[in-house]
Amino acid sequence: MDTEAALREGLTSTPKYIPVWYRYDKAGSIFNDRCLSDNTYYYFYSSEMHILSNKIKEILPDVSEVPHLVDMGSGNSEKTRGFIDSLLVNHDTITYIPVDISKDFLAETSEQLSVIYGDRLNIKSIPGDYDVGIEQLKDVAGLKIITWLGGGFQNQRYQDQIRRLQMLSKVMTEKCCLIISLDITQEKKQVENAYLDPTGISADLYLNAITRLNKEYGSDINTDSLKLEAEYIQTKTPEDTSYVRLFGTSLEPQQHRIPGLGIAINLAKDERLYFHEGKGVSCKYTIDQIKTLAASAELCLENYWTDPDQHVAVCYFATPKTTS
Ligand SMILES: C[S@@+](CC[C@H](N)C(=O)[O-])C[C@H]1O[C@@H](n2cnc3c(N)ncnc32)[C@H](O)[C@@H]1O
Repeated sequence: MDTEAALREGLTSTPKYIPVWYRYDKAGSIFNDRCLSDNTYYYFYSSEMHILSNKIKEILPDVSEVPHLVDMGSGNSEKTRGFIDSLLVNHDTITYIPVDISKDFLAETSEQLSVIYGDRLNIKSIPGDYDVGIEQLKDVAGLKIITWLGGGFQNQRYQDQIRRLQMLSKVMTEKCCLIISLDITQEKKQVENAYLDPTGISADLYLNAITRLNKEYGSDINTDSLKLEAEYIQTKTPEDTSYVRLFGTSLEPQQHRIPGLGIAINLAKDERLYFHEGKGVSCKYTIDQIKTLAASAELCLENYWTDPDQHVAVCYFATPKTTS
């Protein structure tokens, strides 16, 4: 991925935006972890943890072949450790393939995991974009258990969700599976509080996109000149999802040069700067919408597990079984 081209495109388009993945440098990954632990309004983390800690044995397929565990957007790998521990009960060693755009954080996490698991975990990290990771999976033969946890999947544009599911489906055989945690919350106030929590903790994560832009490309945008807002847009159409619009509204007219990108931008008073590509981020799904999404990539939703509050569905997808 060409970071500079993507930023230039976003900041000169109408409306202006910064891609969601740009917030995840090392500082962003640390802010992300803080949001998970300290933002009590962010229901997703506790709901997902509840399912994974209670249902991991049901979720994880019972496999005799030594598996490759692929972790899309691995972050601190905390949740995937449940999968690693369970797989190591029946296998002496497994291969762990974490994929993450936050390269330094991935290197640190991989180092910590190799100290914890030693030779039993063969770690083959892929620093880079999801597309880079999926491309490399073409060369990984045998059984792949692919996880996409922590809400990373739903942070992509809908067309990227479909495109990447289609790419994954092509590298999966009948014995492989794909496990994705998806947000199924439909209640507007709960969603808006989670993304713009009254404690203000998540603001640091979103605004890290601007702090990073200032640091890496020489701009001087004052984060206090933007008022952060989140809006939940709901739809039940099967070929769509609900989503969150996340943006900073400019409190004053402002002009900025961004020397490292060779551009200058104007923000009018009340103009929005979005913190994601496309129409929204953090999609929310009905079960019908999840089935439609899977079908668009020739995958089947074979099973799913939810928490008691019905916030999260941990979904198990597989390729259709051929009968011989
Ligand atoms: C919401 S966090 C989830 C982290 C972790 N899986 C968890 O459950 O806590 C999303 C992760 O995906 C990574 N990420 C975001 N966009 C990415 C992209 N386009 N390609 C690869 N990794 C990406 C981020 O660096 C971050 O670690």
